Amino acid sequence: MSAKLQAPRGTYDVLPEEAIRRTAVEEAARRILGAAGYRRIETPAFEATELFARGVGSSTDIVQKEMYTFEDGSGRSLTLRPEGTAPVARAYIEHGMQKLPQPVKLWYLSSFFRYERAQAGRQRQFWQVGTEAIGSADPAVDAESIVLLAELLDALGVRELRLRLGSLGTAETRAAYREELQAFLRAHEDRLSEEVRARIDQNPLRAFDADHPGTREVMAEAPRLLDRLSGEDADHFAAVRALLDGAGLTYEVDPTLVRGLDYYARTVFEFTSDALGAQSGVGGGGRYDGLIEQLGGPPTAGVGWAAGIERILLAAGEQAVAEPVVDLFVGHDPAHPEQRAAGFQIAHEARRAGLTAQLELAGRSLKGQLKQADRIGARYVAILGEEGATVKDKESGEQETVAPGAVVHHVLRGRSL
Ligand code: HAM
Repeated sequence: MSAKLQAPRGTYDVLPEEAIRRTAVEEAARRILGAAGYRRIETPAFEATELFARGVGSSTDIVQKEMYTFEDGSGRSLTLRPEGTAPVARAYIEHGMQKLPQPVKLWYLSSFFRYERAQAGRQRQFWQVGTEAIGSADPAVDAESIVLLAELLDALGVRELRLRLGSLGTAETRAAYREELQAFLRAHEDRLSEEVRARIDQNPLRAFDADHPGTREVMAEAPRLLDRLSGEDADHFAAVRALLDGAGLTYEVDPTLVRGLDYYARTVFEFTSDALGAQSGVGGGGRYDGLIEQLGGPPTAGVGWAAGIERILLAAGEQAVAEPVVDLFVGHDPAHPEQRAAGFQIAHEARRAGLTAQLELAGRSLKGQLKQADRIGARYVAILGEEGATVKDKESGEQETVAPGAVVHHVLRGRSL
């Protein structure tokens, strides 16, 4: 016997019950983001590898070890998109969107691919809902996009949410700060853990996350990037904060907040949920004012976020999502198979009249058909027999026999009462 085929590690099937919950996410996104003027965009599932190397940054974990990269038939290097910001920035440039009124506000709900260690809430193919607002450096765009994510997560019932906020300043500020931090760490090397010491050159910022007591003591005195922001960047951050305060949003300023992508400048933020385990990041984002230029476009500001659908659903728990309504179930008396075609016709007519209708398709007994109607929660059941159609309203218990051609009208009338 051949081995059983399974979905690859880190991927999964979205089964119908799960699909209902995802539809709820999509509908909430369409409603909340649409109301703020965001319009849907979708980009291809794969892009030229160079887009991510240039956009996300060649020294990031994503580009160094998490990309699914392959050559196509003509030897081009392509990569399954690991994230959505670089592709949307590419589309903005490619379609000349700088000619549109700015900022151009876009949202997406798509699947992304990263070769990561798979665990609950961390997949190799995962889904994100995200926004990008391109073409304005106004702090109101940052604040609005954060408020929209908060609203979306709240509407979906994501529990125990926390928002952390920071600012990274510009690339120049960061480079100068990095050198300052490295010098500081070297001056206190004897009190640092071995692991932190080994990474001073590579990743000095990691020292802020260390659990080692000596390192923690040193880091309490370490210089903070937030204190090194230029006047303009500090003003921008203060303006974002004032708008969030005005909107009544609770957040914590985290001077050590770092994100795993290189394109960020100024505002960065992350929503976490304590209802999740190790993978507590529900969604995050920030400003990326240099990205469009980096990809060959004109100097253009931008800000956005993405939130993982799997993590939203995990953190929302079993919040009740309404099963779709079934208005009518149509069956027929098994003793009269000639009625089958009439039943088929009624189900078809019912759908054309705007009802949701399902047909008996499994050759069940009369009893089995009634049970199936119960299982799917049908409001009306119509069973076709010799005398016509017996239509039962499951809500009131009333039953009536009508001509087959009158079933749809009967249900429509009953529904509107
Ligand atoms: P990110 O922080 O890499 O940002 O991902 C955003 C969210 O996607 C995470 O908070 C998490 O919920 C989800 N996520 C990431 N990786 C996985 C995974 N392997 N499995 C399940 N969920 C995952 C970005 O992707 C940026 N493009 C966000 C952005 C948009 N910044 C500006 N605009």
